[in-house]
Amino acid sequence: MADVPTKSVTLSNGTKIPILGLGTSHEGGYCHSAVVYALKDCGYRHIDTAKRYRCEDALKKAIEESGVKREDIFITSKLWNAELGHGATKAACQRSLESLGVTYLDLYLIHWPTCPPGTPDEKSLRIETWKAMEELYKDGLCRAIGVSNFEIEHLEELKEVWTVAPHVNQIEHHIYYRPVELIQYCRNNNICVEGYCPLSKGLALDDAIVKELSVKYQRTASQILIRWNIQNEIITIPKSTKEERVRENSQVFDFHLSEEDMETLNDIHRTRTVKLCSCSQEKLKYERRCLEMTG
Ligand SMILES: NC(=O)c1ccc[n+]([C@@H]2O[C@H](COP(=O)([O-])OP(=O)(O)OC[C@H]3O[C@@H](n4cnc5c(N)ncnc54)[C@H](OP(=O)(O)O)[C@@H]3O)[C@@H](O)[C@H]2O)c1
Repeated sequence: MADVPTKSVTLSNGTKIPILGLGTSHEGGYCHSAVVYALKDCGYRHIDTAKRYRCEDALKKAIEESGVKREDIFITSKLWNAELGHGATKAACQRSLESLGVTYLDLYLIHWPTCPPGTPDEKSLRIETWKAMEELYKDGLCRAIGVSNFEIEHLEELKEVWTVAPHVNQIEHHIYYRPVELIQYCRNNNICVEGYCPLSKGLALDDAIVKELSVKYQRTASQILIRWNIQNEIITIPKSTKEERVRENSQVFDFHLSEEDMETLNDIHRTRTVKLCSCSQEKLKYERRCLEMTG
């Protein structure tokens, strides 16, 4: 029987997003059968991807093979840094739609606030990009729009001009990295928080406190970590290339962490902080050199 993850979060425009989704990316591999299994056998109805993950075409095939109707799946994709700017954003969204074989995205995000090396006015480029996102939303190509990895200062910048506030900010969020001030800012501005790397890419699975709770609740470490996100009302998108783990990660709706245990997990980041993801200008410069070398 499928473990249907039914709990949803309602975005500020009324769109519902399942609180649990399946992450995908090229890092650590993409697995076709795991995605088909997630949709067909485990009841996942939310998939997170990005142009950058190089698997939009593969996802199109997996969705088709699963037999699940397009309208029953919440699909998120993201605009990569190289495509910031008004025209480039619109063209990139169109390409993502084509790759995924869909006529609309449920959520489209600006992947990072970091602009390509040599950008003369970063703020203007981000604002111009947001204007294009708003147009995509108003034209019905995206049911919701948002940002990812935006700090308060980037959101404040957009706030000066937005006519549609971002519906979502997708940020790194796990027991070793919990930006409480940013989360509060987003909530004060009706921006839903989506957390990525819920398992801190596997690191938190060996945490002593998590292991203790795993014994206490008779659940796996991964289920404790995902459940912690859900009880914090953070939309969460664990990724696995293995069918048994995809199922395990979906079985998180039939137990409850106590308030005390939630507090313990909430506080871990204060004594141990690990930030796993970044997108510096240096990283972008390096990437551009690699692309030039490989043509
Ligand atoms: N917006 C952004 O900038 C951004 C950045 C990073 C990630 N993301 C999104 O967030 C998703 C999740 O992040 P992530 O993949 O970096 O980290 P994650 O979900 O915290 O961890 C994934 C890692 O944990 C392993 N794993 C998964 N389930 C497991 C289980 N039940 N038991 C043991 N190990 C397990 C996976 O290995 P196996 O595959 O071998 O199971 C993989 O190595 C991504 O796929 C992507 O969609 C967004």
